[in-house]
Amino acid sequence: MYKLFFQLVFKRMDPEKAHYLAFRWIRLAVRVPVLRTFVAAVLAPRHEELRTEALGLRMHGPFGLAAGFDKNAVAIDGMAMLGFDHVEIGTVTGEAQPGNPRKRLFRLVPDRALINRMGFNNEGSAAVAARLRARVPVFRTVVGVNIGKTKAVEEADAAADYVKSTERLAAHADYLVVNVSSPNTPGLRNLQATESLRPLLTAVREAADRTVTDRRVPLLVKIAPDLADEDVDAVADLAVELGLDGIIATNTTIARAGLGLSSDPALVQETGGLSGAPLKERSLEVLRRLYARVGDRIVLVGVGGIEDAEDAWQRILAGATLIQGYSAFIYEGPFYARAVHKGLAARLAASPYATLAEAVGADHRKATTR
Ligand SMILES: Cc1cc2nc3c(=O)[nH]c(=O)nc-3n(C[C@H](O)[C@H](O)[C@H](O)COP(=O)(O)O)c2cc1C
Repeated sequence: MYKLFFQLVFKRMDPEKAHYLAFRWIRLAVRVPVLRTFVAAVLAPRHEELRTEALGLRMHGPFGLAAGFDKNAVAIDGMAMLGFDHVEIGTVTGEAQPGNPRKRLFRLVPDRALINRMGFNNEGSAAVAARLRARVPVFRTVVGVNIGKTKAVEEADAAADYVKSTERLAAHADYLVVNVSSPNTPGLRNLQATESLRPLLTAVREAADRTVTDRRVPLLVKIAPDLADEDVDAVADLAVELGLDGIIATNTTIARAGLGLSSDPALVQETGGLSGAPLKERSLEVLRRLYARVGDRIVLVGVGGIEDAEDAWQRILAGATLIQGYSAFIYEGPFYARAVHKGLAARLAASPYATLAEAVGADHRKATTR
């Protein structure tokens, strides 16, 4: 049904306009009590066996919405209504900014992929903090807050910009993510080098502790799939050393591997980050590498090309405690999260593991005891 609708309506529309249209419908639906209760009952059924504890938080399940979809925290309940167990808002920057000029979002339909160079278009940390402060939650869901650097801020002053966002947003975040991996802010990914990342993460940790004194806000870092393997290891070691709570792997890629010949060559050449199915293999590889390095000392969040329950299950076996999706939601539509949950519950029941937690990293344990 959604696939037909996608072919007839969304596919013919500019992708960014389609995004805002879908967004508006979700926000409208959640305002009507009968409708939201009905939609949530159909799309967000709760599977007891998928209950997940991670980052000191209790969640209905492991599957959440990746950052970038709800940059300004306007549709948290709407996304929870559609079955996402956590919603990561942002990326929010210190100051408001318009992002890159349009067109900046492209669909590679035959490859089930997207290319975007949005450039952190968002209302800025003050406005988003005010919205979160005023929010009266309809559905109980975990809210992650993903922060990044304002484009106009020099790379050398990046930490101060992240600290500003942290001071404003940490109190409203169930967990906080330092995003140093989007390809669309010049210089941002240089912050992944440990000599830059160490002072940045230390400053954000201190700011979070200074601002929120009644609990410890979990802090995660989100990395790019384009890091060399040694750099993935270096970030993993740093995360352990600094007592970070988690690593999110991965953001979009600047590589164009994994694309079929059927996507329009002009689109393939668009500048920006590639997401969706072609990212699957590398994201999984980075996750495996991280788990081999950090084991269960740090929560790993798997994201990148998760299209269905099988992909989600493979990430769990590879070491992810939490999983996220974005691009496949565009292609699969409102039943995406439901399908992932149902399939995960079935896979867990058919597996030798009593709980999801037991399945996390099982592939690695199998490989090392062989
Ligand atoms: C249009 C678009 C905008 C995005 N914006 C952000 C962002 O602001 N911050 C961020 O950390 N990741 C952002 N991402 C990356 C996603 O969160 C995710 O890491 C990536 O798309 C891989 O997952 P997927 O293959 O399921 O889409 C964006 C992705 C897309 C497609």
